[in-house]
Amino acid sequence: QVAAASGHTVVLVDQSDEILKKSTKGIEESLKRVTKKKFADKPEAGAEFIEKTLKNLTTSTDAVAVVHSTDLVIEAIVENQEIKNELFKRLDKFAPEHTIFASNTSSLQITQLANSTTRQDRFGGLHFFNPVPMMKLVEVIKTPMTSQKTFESLVDFSKAVGKSPVSCKDTPGFIVNRLLVPYMMEAVRLFERGDASKEDIDVAMKLGAGYPMGPFELLDYVGLDTSKYIIDGWHSLEPNNPLFAPSPLLDKLVEEKKLGKKTGEGFYKYK
Ligand code: 3HC
Repeated sequence: QVAAASGHTVVLVDQSDEILKKSTKGIEESLKRVTKKKFADKPEAGAEFIEKTLKNLTTSTDAVAVVHSTDLVIEAIVENQEIKNELFKRLDKFAPEHTIFASNTSSLQITQLANSTTRQDRFGGLHFFNPVPMMKLVEVIKTPMTSQKTFESLVDFSKAVGKSPVSCKDTPGFIVNRLLVPYMMEAVRLFERGDASKEDIDVAMKLGAGYPMGPFELLDYVGLDTSKYIIDGWHSLEPNNPLFAPSPLLDKLVEEKKLGKKTGEGFYKYK
């Protein structure tokens, strides 16, 4: 959405037409929200902006078929190292020589993903934040193999889509998630110990620390499955780090398919 809105030609790829239909609908709704604010007094210009943005956006279920005409691939699939590696390995065979690959991974090592391809110098991290149309930050990750030219292209792209890039080494969680995920997990542990209700913890962090959402609202917003993938991955890397300890409550909710806002229930109910 943000790439298309800033004039880039985008092909959105996903597993099925059904998912793509849902995604396109989400983008249309989000564009309406953005336009309402951006073109408050100019509804005609707003309608034109939406039309132009949607024209820049096509969809496909076949990544291999469309990768031959791309300059930049941004992967944002399931947070699983093997599945991501498999995708990058496949795309590497069909992408043009100059094409840069980037991952939007929340927690996996960019270096390991880059190693599944033959273009380690044209590979980096490009990490956006939910909701992407609203959050101004992008973390740009340079591995020891990422060329300076690739890094600069990723920084330029981030600016071209209207974001403020920061850079970080290829360390677990980069900047934001390395601080945010242990904080959210501490909130779950506080609740699990019975020290405070989740509602009070959320109110406390909003009114006492000025956060726009409390930790349980944010966990539901990010997705409990994504949060569990992140913490489980870090726990396997550093099993003795108490900040990365799994939470029985989070595990139970994910097992019950209560994944947060997207499934209608997580820590809270949304239906
Ligand atoms: N698309 C377009 N506009 C949107 C939007 C979307 N998806 N979501 C919200 N907005 C707009 C609304 O239209 C509204 O505009 P207005 O001010 O003109 O009315 C504005 O944002 C505020 O929205 P709301 O009034 O509905 O609610 P809030 O004031 O609570 O703002 C929020 C919503 C921007 C999501 C805010 O609550 C927030 O900043 N929350 C914290 C988000 C956060 O921490 N994100 C990082 C998560 S970590 C992550 O993503 C990393 C990953 O790796 C896990």
